[in-house]
Amino acid sequence: MSASPTPSIRPVIAAVEGMATSDGAGVSMTRMLGTPRLRTLDPFLMLDLFGSDEPTDYLAGFPDHPHRGFETVTYMLAGRMRHADNHGHEGVIETGGVQWMTAGRGLIHSEMPEQTEGLMRGFQLWINLPARLKMTEPRYQEFPAARIPVESREGGVTVTVIAGDTARGTAGPVRAEATDARYFDVALPAGAVFAEPLPAGHTAFLVLFEGGVSVAGAEGTLSGPQVVVLGEGERVEAAAGPEGARFLLLSGRPLGEPIAWGGPFVMNTREEVMQAFRDYEAGRI
Ligand code: CO
Repeated sequence: MSASPTPSIRPVIAAVEGMATSDGAGVSMTRMLGTPRLRTLDPFLMLDLFGSDEPTDYLAGFPDHPHRGFETVTYMLAGRMRHADNHGHEGVIETGGVQWMTAGRGLIHSEMPEQTEGLMRGFQLWINLPARLKMTEPRYQEFPAARIPVESREGGVTVTVIAGDTARGTAGPVRAEATDARYFDVALPAGAVFAEPLPAGHTAFLVLFEGGVSVAGAEGTLSGPQVVVLGEGERVEAAAGPEGARFLLLSGRPLGEPIAWGGPFVMNTREEVMQAFRDYEAGRI
C-alpha cells in the first residue's frame, strides 16, 4: 500500500447549473443546490439565488412558514428584505447585509420584500445542524454591510468575509461553530488569481454568479451562474477570465449524519420529522 500525496490545489469535481424554480408565495429564483442535479453537499442542504428587477418575480415573498433542525443564511446583494418571527424578532436585511439564523428547535417566520420596485438580488443558503444542536434555542446573527470586513488583496481582488477567518487573518462577524463554515464573497478583476487554504476534509464549492473562472480540473473558463464543486486539496485556487469574476466560496465540516428532510424540517430520522409536523400543528414551534 502506498501513501498517495494530497494534491495541492482542490480540483473541480463537478460544475452544475441551477434550476429555475418558484418558492414561497410565488417568488421566481434559481435553485443552485438541493435539486435533482445536485442534491446536497454535506453540511450544505440548499442554495437559492434570487435576482430580478421585475416586482412580479418577488413581491409575493415568503409569508409565515416554519423551520427546524438547520440554519438559514440570507445574504442580500441588492434590495431589502423584512423578516419577522413568532417569538418577536423582527428586522430588515439591507443591501450587503447578512442574516445567519440558527432555527434550532424551531420558529415560524415571514420573509417579505421591503420594496415594491427595483432590483432584489441575493442568496439564501440552508446549512444542516448536527443532531446535538437540532433542538437548540433559535439564534440570530445579523450584520449590515458596514460591519462585514472586506479584505483587499493584490491584483484588485476583494474578499468580503461573512463567516470564518481568511488565512490572512480577516475574521467574519458570524460565528459558525456548528460546521466551522466559511462564507466569503470574492470579486476578481480580469486575469486576477485568488488562492486560499481550507481545512482538509471540509466540503468546499464556489458559487459563480458573475463572469468566469478557470480552476484546475476543468477545461477552459467556467461561467455562471454555476456551482463549482471542489475536491480534496490544500487550497482553493481560481483565476478570473477576461470579464473578471465574482463568486461565493463556501466551505464547512461535513456532519456525516443521516438526513431526514420533510419540507421545512431537516432532522435525522423520519420520526423526528413527523414530530416536527405535529409540534407545528399543535402550536409548539
Ligand atoms: Co424561511
